[in-house]
Amino acid sequence: MFEILTRCPETRARTGIINTAHGKIQTPIFMPVGTLASVKSVSVEELKNCGAQIILGNTYHLYLRPGCDVIDHMKGLHHFMNWDSPILTDSGGFQFFSLAKLAKFSDEGVDFQSHIDGSRHIFTPEKAVEIQSLLGSDIMMSLDWCIGHPADKGATMEALKKTTMWAERGLEFWRDNGKPNALFGIVQGGMYKELRSLSAKQLEDLDFPGYAIGGLSVGEPTEMMYEMADHTAPLLPYEKPKYVMGVGTPENLVELVGMGVDMFDCVMPSRNARNGQLFTSGGTLNISNAAFKMDEAPVDESCNCYTCRNYSRAYLRHLYKSRELLAYRLNTIHNLHYYLTLMANIRQAVAQGSFNLFKKSFYSRLECGLK
Ligand code: GUN
Ligand code: ZN
Repeated sequence: MFEILTRCPETRARTGIINTAHGKIQTPIFMPVGTLASVKSVSVEELKNCGAQIILGNTYHLYLRPGCDVIDHMKGLHHFMNWDSPILTDSGGFQFFSLAKLAKFSDEGVDFQSHIDGSRHIFTPEKAVEIQSLLGSDIMMSLDWCIGHPADKGATMEALKKTTMWAERGLEFWRDNGKPNALFGIVQGGMYKELRSLSAKQLEDLDFPGYAIGGLSVGEPTEMMYEMADHTAPLLPYEKPKYVMGVGTPENLVELVGMGVDMFDCVMPSRNARNGQLFTSGGTLNISNAAFKMDEAPVDESCNCYTCRNYSRAYLRHLYKSRELLAYRLNTIHNLHYYLTLMANIRQAVAQGSFNLFKKSFYSRLECGLK
């Protein structure tokens, strides 16, 4: 499913293509988060215009609401939400860590209470694959156990062991059911390099179509996150796609691409947009700032998004301060366009053999600050 096109001569960065039933994705890629069958506040046309090639959906959320019966009746997630490009679905592993109350982990799976109405449910690794197949996901994720930071070695080992056991069971279920689409394994192991190595080795032996590095950005310092990703990425099979889950800032994406990572997702561009934080080539700005009250300039002079082509900072500040719904939409369009253009520029630089030069100019523009 994955074809490597070019490799950077100086770093581990590469460009490639992932083939899915809903079309090709060019990597390295950023996937906007559409948790509940919607990337919050924007339409699928707007997403396409921002340059989105693939979006992420959440099994945990969609299973609870609207429910599998609704999505099955509506012929799958693509048809339901009118998105005809690839969709990756997360397994629920992270939501048990971040959202569900009283999640109980056993060999069998996860017994959890809905964060919506407190009802009890059980996810097994087989059920996680079954639900994601029903959603019509192009890239499914194994059920895993994501552990926070800090965590002691014993607890981290237990989460790793369950993650491997579940990965094997999910994979077997997937293979027995005609291998619809693709299933990725997720490396855990907390902040322990030897456990990361063990997890990567166990998953490599299972021979997944692709691999994710999970359990990052869970409260650890940035340097530690880099250390873990830098340690883990080269342990995974070179010819398979590598996905760092739930990360991160524009700087994080640039650094991780250099470590050989091909795929990313994060709520940061969309969520921060709704909190008034906008990303620009000169750093972030908060649109509510009084400095923008009379500012006729667009958010970012060098941005070609719908928002920057049509609206001033002064207008966006007014919308945001007035809690006008349009603020969320215009801010989200700008931030997603910024992230997706950054990835397109990274791909171009890697393909031209000038990724290090690109990094230099990316950081020097950031240092220059806002204009
Ligand atoms: N999203 C961010 N981190 C993780 C992780 O460790 N596991 C899963 N399943 N999803 C994630
Ligand atoms: Zn813009």
